[in-house]
Amino acid sequence: MPRGWTKRDIGDLTGKVAIVTGGNSGIGFETSLALAENFATVILAVRNMNKGHEAVDKIKKGCPNADVHVLKLDLGDLESVKEFAAEFKMRFRSLSLLINNAGVMMPPRKETKDGFEAQFGINFLGHFALTGLLLDLIIKTPDSRVVSVGSLAAHNLKPEFGKFTGKKYKSTELKSYGQSKLACMYFAKELQYRLRSRNIDSKSIACHPGIAQTYLFGKGSRSLKARLTRASLKMIGQSAEAAAYPILYAATEHSIRGGEYIGPDGRKGIKGFPAELELLNEQFVENVSSNLWTLSEELTGVTFKF
Ligand SMILES: NC(=O)c1ccc[n+]([C@@H]2O[C@H](COP(=O)([O-])OP(=O)(O)OC[C@H]3O[C@@H](n4cnc5c(N)ncnc54)[C@H](OP(=O)(O)O)[C@@H]3O)[C@@H](O)[C@H]2O)c1
Repeated sequence: MPRGWTKRDIGDLTGKVAIVTGGNSGIGFETSLALAENFATVILAVRNMNKGHEAVDKIKKGCPNADVHVLKLDLGDLESVKEFAAEFKMRFRSLSLLINNAGVMMPPRKETKDGFEAQFGINFLGHFALTGLLLDLIIKTPDSRVVSVGSLAAHNLKPEFGKFTGKKYKSTELKSYGQSKLACMYFAKELQYRLRSRNIDSKSIACHPGIAQTYLFGKGSRSLKARLTRASLKMIGQSAEAAAYPILYAATEHSIRGGEYIGPDGRKGIKGFPAELELLNEQFVENVSSNLWTLSEELTGVTFKF
C-alpha cells in the first residue's frame, strides 16, 4: 500500500463516468472536485438542484474544462431513486464509479417518505436501492467500483439492523446513525462477496473519512451546542479534502482488489493518510450480512440481478 497517498496520486481518469451522491457538499464535494480535476465525467447526485448547480460552478471556477453534471436524487424517497437511475441510464452508457457518500446525522426529519427511520433509510437503504438499480450498468463497465462510506461511529457496534427498518424503531438517534453506517460497511463487503462469487470483475470497497468539520454536524445550526461541537471537531479533525482521500483511494488506487476497508491511518482513525484497515473483517458477521441483504431487498423492492 502506497504511504502518504493524496489526491495527487490519482491517475488519469479520462473516459470514466462517476456518480457522487451528496456531491454538492463537504466530503462529497471534495471527492467530485478531485475526480473532475483528473478528467472523469462526474455526476453530482443531489437532493437540492440549486446547491448542485452552485457546486458545479465552484468546481468549474478552479477547473474550467471539468465535465460535471447535476442530477436530482433524494435518497429518502425510493421513487426519486428510481427516477434518478432511469434518467442516468438514458443519458450515460457506462458507470465506472458509484460513490455512495451522501448522509445525514440526527436530522430533524425522523422518517423517510417510505416510512423508514431517516438515517437508516437515507444513509443505507437509499444507497442499497440505488446500487441495485444501476447494477447492470456497473457490471457492464470494465474495472468499475462501488464505494460505500462508513464511519468511526460504527466501529465496535454490534449489528442490530432489524430494529431500524420501520416507524417502530427503538433507539437513540446517534445509535441509529452508527447502525446505518455499519449497514453501509456490511453492504460493501457483502456486495464484493456476491460479485466475486459470480466471477464479476466489478469491485466493492468500504471506507470511512475519519472526522472532518462539515455540514453533517448540526446542519449549520447556530445553537451553542452545535457551535461547540463544530469548533471541537475542527480542532481534532482534518479538512474535508483530506477526509475525501479514503474515498478517492478506494475509487482510484490500482492496488485495490475489492472488499477492503479504507480509513485514515492516524491515532484512533480520526485523521491521516488512507490505509487498509482490518476492523471490518473483525467485526463482520456473515449470516447477519446476508440477512440484512434479504431484508433490504424486501424493504426497498429492489432485487439485485447479477
Ligand atoms: N464529516 C465527518 O466527520 C464524517 C465522519 C464519518 C462519516 N462521514 C460520512 O461522510 C459522508 C459525507 O458527509 P459530510 O461530512 O460531507 O456531510 P455534509 O457536508 O452534510 O454532506 C452530506 C451530503 O449528503 C446529502 N444528502 C443528505 N440527505 C440526502 C438525501 N436524502 N438525498 C440525497 N442527498 C442527501 C447532503 O445534501 P444537502 O447539502 O442538500 O443537505 C450533502 O450533499 C456521509 O455519509 C457521512 O455520514 C462524515
